[in-house]
Amino acid sequence: MANDFSGKREMWSNRWLFVLAAAGSAVGLGNIWKFPYIAGENGGGAFVLIYLSCIALVGVPIMMSEILLGRSGRSSPITSMEKLAEVSKASRYWAFIGWLGVLAGFLILSYYAVIAGWALNYIWLSGSGGFSNIGASGAEDIFNNFLSNPWQLLFWHSLFMIFTVLIVGRGIGKGLETAVRWFMPLLFILLVILLIYGFQSGGFTQAVNFMFDFKMDVVTTETWLIAMGQAFFTLSLGMGAMMAYGSYVPDSANIGSTVIIIALLDSFVAVASGLAIFPIVFANGLEPGQGPGLMFVTVPLAFGQMSFGSLFGTLFFLLVSFAAITSAISLTEPAISYLVEKYNAQRSRVAISLGVFCWVLGIGTVLSFNHWADLTLFGRTFFDSVDYLSQNIMLPLGGLLIALFAAWKIPGELILEQLGISGRYGLYAWRIVAGIIAPLCVALVFINTLFPEVFEAINRAQKG
Ligand code: PHE
Repeated sequence: MANDFSGKREMWSNRWLFVLAAAGSAVGLGNIWKFPYIAGENGGGAFVLIYLSCIALVGVPIMMSEILLGRSGRSSPITSMEKLAEVSKASRYWAFIGWLGVLAGFLILSYYAVIAGWALNYIWLSGSGGFSNIGASGAEDIFNNFLSNPWQLLFWHSLFMIFTVLIVGRGIGKGLETAVRWFMPLLFILLVILLIYGFQSGGFTQAVNFMFDFKMDVVTTETWLIAMGQAFFTLSLGMGAMMAYGSYVPDSANIGSTVIIIALLDSFVAVASGLAIFPIVFANGLEPGQGPGLMFVTVPLAFGQMSFGSLFGTLFFLLVSFAAITSAISLTEPAISYLVEKYNAQRSRVAISLGVFCWVLGIGTVLSFNHWADLTLFGRTFFDSVDYLSQNIMLPLGGLLIALFAAWKIPGELILEQLGISGRYGLYAWRIVAGIIAPLCVALVFINTLFPEVFEAINRAQKG
């Protein structure tokens, strides 16, 4: 949505369009591609449950905080934070949250476009009948051959980046609304088709057990950090995307119920994707912890065996690509809205510069799957490092600061007015949830991962 400078800001046409746009940002590769593979790598059950509790305890209050701040500031995240810091007589360094978010958005988009490029290639592969009756090893071969060819990865990465820049450059109002209004429901339908397939495949019970059995023994301190990072990533939190979108929300919309709807939708898509993918994994003796290739091996395998599989497969990867584009758009919004607002820069130029920057950075991810596969830092490839840093460190850190600011720094009346609640107890409740519980969870997980000795010492003290 463009920002017009006559003082009146363009708004979402109504609350439901905001829900759709926010859901368009939230639902993306994080749900369909990432959630199943991370759950697979981290042993399933306990991870899924920790992740869902992070959504409820941390994700919901932080998303409310972001929208609250965005709607109060009615500007790009950086400017909103500057304005609100002033109104609240807080230090202007709080605007750091906005800058951190812009940086996180760059990092995430750089690899997001590479993976979305895989989905683009798979539209094409599926449409040309490339998946019919390929079998498990055939599906793995197709994927591995693709990954080993950097030029191909680069081609699809570039194509996705061009699409994103084109849409973002033209202003996202109409396009985005239409996209989410049509494609999201269609995506649900395709997921249900895959679910039904998975249900009949013979691996369904095993998949349900894998996803929901609470196996505490596979949980390590890292598991908590990864589950929390995933909760932030999937809800598009901690980098200002929701703050930027929140700045276009009409005053009449209720923040609390809106956020709950978005979180439910998002979790539904993630869990449904897992329940669609894992039966295929178990029925075909595939490895659940195989990493980023999980969706790209299992889904072609399933569609390859169905009647009309090429058609459904094409449609599926098309929808995944759309889901990815609506998320990619929101990754650029904090940076673009700031540059447009501050320097009155032309939206299309800003979009191109940002696209080029992320495209170049993305080449590192492209190479991580072939030439640079053995080049690691602390055991992580380039892609893993960018992913870990942005998702597990920057987003939770941004979210922590956002919640603290929204709970303790801005004036109480503003909080009450924004949340549509009244009275002292309402404010207490908000401060307990957003100002204490959510930040405390994030902080504990950070301490737990970065300084595991602290918790080990506590454990020992309790036992002793
Ligand atoms: N939520 C998106 C997804 O799940 C990714 C995203 C992260 C988008 C952060 C915006 C901000 O795919």
